Parts: sequence; C-alpha cells; structure tokens
Amino acid sequence: MRISVIGCGYLGAVHAASMAELGHDVIGIDVDPGKIQALSAAQAPFFEPGLTDILKSAIASGRLTFSTNPADARSSQVHFIAVGTPQKKGENAADLRFVDAAIDGLIPHLSEGDLVVGKSTVPVGTAARLAQKIADSGSGASLAWNPEFLREGFAVKDTLTPDRLVYGVPSGEAGEAAKRLLDEVYASAIAAETPLVVTDYATAELVKVSANAFLATKISFINAMAEISEVAGADVTALADAIGFDARIGRRFLNAGIGFGGGCLPKDIRAFSARAEELGRGESVRFLLEIDAINMRRRDRAVDMVVEALGGQVYKKKVAVLGLAFKPDSDDVRDSPALDVAVRLNGLGAHVIATDPEAIPNSIRLQPQLGFATDTHDALHGADVVVLVTEWKEYRELDPVTVGDLVREKVIIDGRNVLDPGRWRDAGWTYRGMGRP
Ligand code: UDX
Repeated sequence: MRISVIGCGYLGAVHAASMAELGHDVIGIDVDPGKIQALSAAQAPFFEPGLTDILKSAIASGRLTFSTNPADARSSQVHFIAVGTPQKKGENAADLRFVDAAIDGLIPHLSEGDLVVGKSTVPVGTAARLAQKIADSGSGASLAWNPEFLREGFAVKDTLTPDRLVYGVPSGEAGEAAKRLLDEVYASAIAAETPLVVTDYATAELVKVSANAFLATKISFINAMAEISEVAGADVTALADAIGFDARIGRRFLNAGIGFGGGCLPKDIRAFSARAEELGRGESVRFLLEIDAINMRRRDRAVDMVVEALGGQVYKKKVAVLGLAFKPDSDDVRDSPALDVAVRLNGLGAHVIATDPEAIPNSIRLQPQLGFATDTHDALHGADVVVLVTEWKEYRELDPVTVGDLVREKVIIDGRNVLDPGRWRDAGWTYRGMGRP
C-alpha cells in the first residue's frame, strides 16, 4: 500500500519506518526541514533502540522517503496523522493546532476513497470534528482513529508487534471500508492472537487517554503507599511485590520512586481533566489532579532526602545526579522527574554534576546552567552525595566498592529503588530508597 505519515516526531518517525518495514511504500512528511534531512539520511532525531536499523533498510530498499511538502501525500491512499498534541502553555488542556494544521494541509491532496487515520492522542470529540472537516471538503475521503500505545525504548517492537489494535471508525459502509483498509495496513503486524477492538471515534480516543490515566494512577498509587511507608517504617518494594502477586493487581507499573514523566503520561492526564471539565464531568476524573499532585510530591521528597543527607547544608556541596532521561533507554527529558530533581538541587545552591548515557545533549539545551559529565566516574568523583534518578542498566550495575573509592561521602539516594540496600550498606554506604526503611 502507499502510505503517508504526517508528522515525523517520535510517533511519526517510528510509525513511518515501521510501516515501510511491514512492506508498504511510505512517505513521511514534516514541516521541519532539519528533521526531514536527518531522517532522509537514516538518522533518527532521537535515541530509540532499533529505529536506525529499520530506517536504513527501508530507505535503502526505496520503500521509505521523506518530504516537507504535503502535496507529496497525494499518491498515498492511507494518511496517518502523527503530529504532537502538547500541553497548552499555562493550561491543562491539549494544544490541537498541529493536528488541525496537518488536516488542513492534507485536505487539498485527498482523493475519493482515501483514509485519514488519526494516531495522535487527542481530547475526546476531536475525531468527530475532524471527520466533519474532511466531509465538508468534498474530497470523498474518510477518517478513522487508531490510537498508538507505543512505549519509548520499545517503540519499534510495539509498532511492529502491537499488543492490541483499536480502530475508531464511522458507522455503516464507510466504517467497513475503513476497517478493511486498516486490516490491510497492519496485515503483517497482526498475529492470529492480536486483539482487535473496532469501535466508534469517541471510544477509540478515550481508550488511549484512559489507558494512560490508569497507568499514571497505578504509579501514583504505589507512590502514595511509599509516602505512608516512609512514616510507618514499611518497605514499599516488598509491599508492591506482595500485592503484585494478586493477578488482579499485577506487579508491573508498581515501582515506587521519583514518579512518572515523559511526553505522554503527565500531559495526557492533565488534558483528560481539562476535557472532562469542558464536557461538564470534571468530577469524574478529578482524582487525576491528585494523581498528578502525588507524582510531583515525589520529586520534592527526593530533593528533601538529598538536603537531609547533606545535613541541611547544600550550598556548594557536590551532588552526583545519575540519570536525566525520564526513563532508561531514552534521551527524552520532556517533563523528566530526573532532570527536575537536578534543576531543583542546583537551584538550592548545590554543585550538581549530572550524567546520563543519552540525555545530556537534550538536557543542556533545556538547562544549560547545570554541570554535566559524560563519564559516570567523573560525575561521581568527589561527590558528597549520589542520587540515582533514572534506572539505566549501568547505574543499576554499579559496584558499591569501586564507586566508594571515587566519592567523598558514601551516601546514596536511590530514587528508583533499583539498588540492593544490603550490598551497598555492606560496602560502607548510607543507602536510602524511596518508601523504604
Ligand atoms: C507511556 C505508556 O506506557 C504508553 O503506552 C503510551 O503510548 C505513552 O505513554 P512512555 O511515556 O514511553 O509510555 O513511558 P512508560 O514506560 O509508560 O513510563 C512513564 C513514566 O513512568 C516514566 O517516567 C517511568 O519512569 C515511570 N514509571 C513507570 C514509574 O515511575 N514506575 C513504574 O512502575 C513504571
């Protein structure tokens, strides 16, 4: 099939390369010439395991090209919309200007029988509005909503072998036709057991935001238990293991620590709250504001623990910050709790030296005032306290004995509860986890 992907950011670049990998002829379109130039040269503009490989092979095979011109979407039959829906400045609501611009730019190039497929995360009601726009254009194209559930760090795998597919389609023959086209698009990604939910626009839009709201709730729930554990002298990691054995609860996404960040969960729960208010049902998801508040308190807690570890005297003390990305295997620092902790400590007058295997360039762009070290040992050298805030493998595997020779004071705050307290204490360290005695 001939497919266009409008928007070549995180979602779009991965989607375009993955669709080509599935055997389709794909054109990725973006307004940013720098991004298009890099992608055309098979350079991923961000760190994502496996992406460069599939970009290279798809470009070499001629199945994947990139352009800044929306008119180049003309020869495609299926057009994915994969632009960003960031949080509006100073508001919780999502900013839909890129989605509208993408649709407006695409409409003149649509033909009878084309299918526009929304992948961006949008407030419920957006698809119906966009479908009307497309209908009003008289192009004869139709719209489907097909939310994306990819996780950064596993984006290629999640796209090539999705754990489920959701199609939001209009009723009647147009919906049947949309479903047939999407089945064809995903034919080689769908295994016999891949669950498929075919539903209406509103449900498809809500599936995405409610899934993210549930995940955020799970994380804040365990972080709330960490807050209680801290005052009760309990260990939240043992608690998570124990409740996680209940199959109805499950152990995944019960890792307490400095909380969630990234380009999705924080903005999506805020946009969901804002949309629910607009729909007159603000109270239904008001708990999400509490989920957000619990999440932000974990960053305060991590900062307080560092301050306490330094006996209240932060000024000019050397703090080694291990991690900047919002999670491992990513260079993404959008709404990163790790970067935020580093910034706050720096703001208190500490001499912060932060390190990360991939996220230093993005961090320098946002927070140039911080101190950075590309080498973990350089970051640790002479530290008065070490704080682990992104659980990269290399930090999880640090040897407390070797590291002990580098620092000035053997004090470590484990903001992700990934180190073995016994091992670190045996090596002479003061170990403190989040919600652990
Ligand atoms: C998320 C959803 O998982 C994905 O389905 C959706 O499509 C996009 O948003 P992503 O943002 O890539 O994906 O990250 P995810 O792996 O979900 O982690 C989000 C944040 O939660 C990270 O900051 C992570 O460190 C934190 N987290 C996760 C916890 O603090 N504890 C956990 O137990 C799990």
